[in-house]
Amino acid sequence: MAEYQAVVKTAELGPGQLLEVEVGGETLMVANIGQTYYALSALCPNDGTNLVQEGELDGDEIVCPHDGRRFDLRTGASLESNDPRPLERYAIRVEENEVKVGGRLPRWGAGAA
Ligand code: FES
Repeated sequence: MAEYQAVVKTAELGPGQLLEVEVGGETLMVANIGQTYYALSALCPNDGTNLVQEGELDGDEIVCPHDGRRFDLRTGASLESNDPRPLERYAIRVEENEVKVGGRLPRWGAGAA
C-alpha cells in the first residue's frame, strides 16, 4: 500500500478525537492528539476489540475496555508489561487540509527475524 488515501478533512477531526477508517482492507483509527495526527490499527491486538467504538481515550493513551490494556497513541506501544504487543502504526500526512493515510510502518526493533 504505497499510496496515501484521504480519510478526513482536518477541520472534521479536532484535538482529542478519534475516527475509524477503512484503508487497504484494514480497520484503522486516526487520532488527533494535541493537533498531531496518528494512524494506528483500530483493533486491540489482544482480542480484536474495536478501540474507536469501545475504547476510552485518556490523554494521549487509549484504554481497551475488554481486559484493560493501555496503548500510547503516539507510538502504538503497549503500556502493559505482561503483553507488549503494540498497535500497528501507519504512515500519515496532511496535505491541503486533508489527513491522508499510507502503508503500515515497521515496528521499531523488528528488523531482525
Ligand atoms: S481485547 Fe483489548 S485488552 Fe483484551
